[in-house]
Amino acid sequence: MLSSAAMSNAQVLTVPPEPQASADGIGNNDRAVHGGPELSIIVPTFNECGNVVELTNRIRDHLRDVSWEMIYVDDDSPDRTANLVRELAASDFRIRCIQRIGRRGLSSACIEGMLSSSAPYLAVIDGDLQHDERLLAQMLAELKTGTLDIVVGSRYSDGGGIGDWDAGRARMSRVAGRLSRTLVPDGLRDPMSGFFMLRRSAFDGALRNLSAIGWKILADLFASSQPPLRFKELPYEFRPRHAGDSKLDSLTLWAYAMLLVDKTIGHIVPVRFVAFSVVGAIGVGVHFAVLTLLFRFAKTPFVQSQAIATVVTMSFNFVLNNVLTYRDERLRGLQWLRGWLSFNLACGIGAAMNVGLATYLWQLSGKWYLAATAGIAAGAVWNYAVTKRLTWHDPSA
Ligand code: GDD
Ligand code: MN
Repeated sequence: MLSSAAMSNAQVLTVPPEPQASADGIGNNDRAVHGGPELSIIVPTFNECGNVVELTNRIRDHLRDVSWEMIYVDDDSPDRTANLVRELAASDFRIRCIQRIGRRGLSSACIEGMLSSSAPYLAVIDGDLQHDERLLAQMLAELKTGTLDIVVGSRYSDGGGIGDWDAGRARMSRVAGRLSRTLVPDGLRDPMSGFFMLRRSAFDGALRNLSAIGWKILADLFASSQPPLRFKELPYEFRPRHAGDSKLDSLTLWAYAMLLVDKTIGHIVPVRFVAFSVVGAIGVGVHFAVLTLLFRFAKTPFVQSQAIATVVTMSFNFVLNNVLTYRDERLRGLQWLRGWLSFNLACGIGAAMNVGLATYLWQLSGKWYLAATAGIAAGAVWNYAVTKRLTWHDPSA
């Protein structure tokens, strides 16, 4: 609800310019003033040059009676999808492009697209024509009945289908769906869908609880909403990709695991810290492997072996954290090198703190395992907190 001061400001801001007489009798300036669209269609894209023109044309054809806009959210695709979208936008004001630099992530792209819109209804659809755009008008009609918060395009409802997926991909989708059961309401048959439309109030209600990790924005929305979203599924047949390749890889699965962990214990401990600790634990194994190789087998002096094992382990941890923990803000090129340096620096200090604290506690209590655990924990928290800002420039808490 706008305050009265804000209302009067809004009125001042929206007063149209003085109409000027023109040949057709309509004030010229009035033409530039029009209300916002009723429906925003958010399209996340990464390398979809071969698809965006066709998708835009189909939406134009299909939604003739709806006031809509399309918001493409592109993560700086090397195939210059963003440039192509801007070309489309130059001849049609209903099309917009958000281009994100140095970022990746389907969910966060969708969220930022929705945040940039003022429409009362928000849809998300893939940019590769696998989702059936002909469902959009029906989704809108369903939402307008007023009894629903969200309408989901569903491959697993009667009449829907998964198209040409091979057995492996179909199994993966089903397993992922089952894993999400604790997060989404019973009865939702396609929680892994990336095709849906919701009312703005539903999005606003979930917004601050969203994890925005990985690909599964729909499951995230359901898990973040209180009260639960009132939903309906509409069946559709998942189509083959129009052009280009899928961006799904094995790391998508990892991102999904991060989402599940965040939704389960994220309010207690940040999921990135959990990932960072998992990587650290694997790093301990790497350290001992290198140490054994050098010290036991190659007969290198202990101090040298330990020093080399430490640098190898820090580099290993950096590479793995860059790919797993900070996948959405992954460093590349020169930034990668700078990141590696700052990571080693921070973790070097962390290691010194670890040894210092452990030694102190050991002398104090005589309990070596407690002292060592406290040292490791303090080092891990330090490493995480410092590299998060220094290496990956991540401002979140
Ligand atoms: N902005 C952005 N950033 N877009 C991305 C990214 C990214 O990092 N990764 C993928 N996309 C875009 C693609 O360009 C495409 O438009 C859409 O997200 C889906 O990606 P695909 O690579 O085509 O994924 P898929 O076909 O394997 O899986 C899709 O369909 C499933 C079934 O509906 C995804 O939408 C899944 O979320 C969905 O469950
Ligand atoms: Mn696809």
